[in-house]
Amino acid sequence: MLNRIVTHIVSGGVATACAYTGTRHDIAADGVVLVTSRQQDDQVWRDLKARRDEWSDSGIRSIKVIGDAEARGSKVIEAWVANQVPQCGYCQSGQVMAATALLKQTPQPTEDDIAGAMVNLCRCGTYNAISAAVRQAAQA
Ligand code: FES
Repeated sequence: MLNRIVTHIVSGGVATACAYTGTRHDIAADGVVLVTSRQQDDQVWRDLKARRDEWSDSGIRSIKVIGDAEARGSKVIEAWVANQVPQCGYCQSGQVMAATALLKQTPQPTEDDIAGAMVNLCRCGTYNAISAAVRQAAQA
């Protein structure tokens, strides 16, 4: 579930969105522990899994890791939100996937790299905001 972003806590669980498409998916949970870090660190989860015999006696059936702050898709989504890129939103899932692929291949893209990779049509003309978001995501 590393490609998911927790969007909010809901009654009985958490609401998540796919980092690439924004598709919502609710995950049932009796309890949620929020751990945030810009560094990839899943030690809390590993420690809890190592003590499964202790928590399984308490009725806890499973523990899950949701999201990865270091994932390129998460950084792109964060930059998209910060730069208020979407207008109608029609093209945005494709734009985010293209930006994620670009940053995977070229972590520090030039303006020409961005222009060459971000070729999806945007009817709303958000190209300047897209370029700014890609540059921001590259710096994150
Ligand atoms: S945001 Fe409307 S088509 Fe791109």
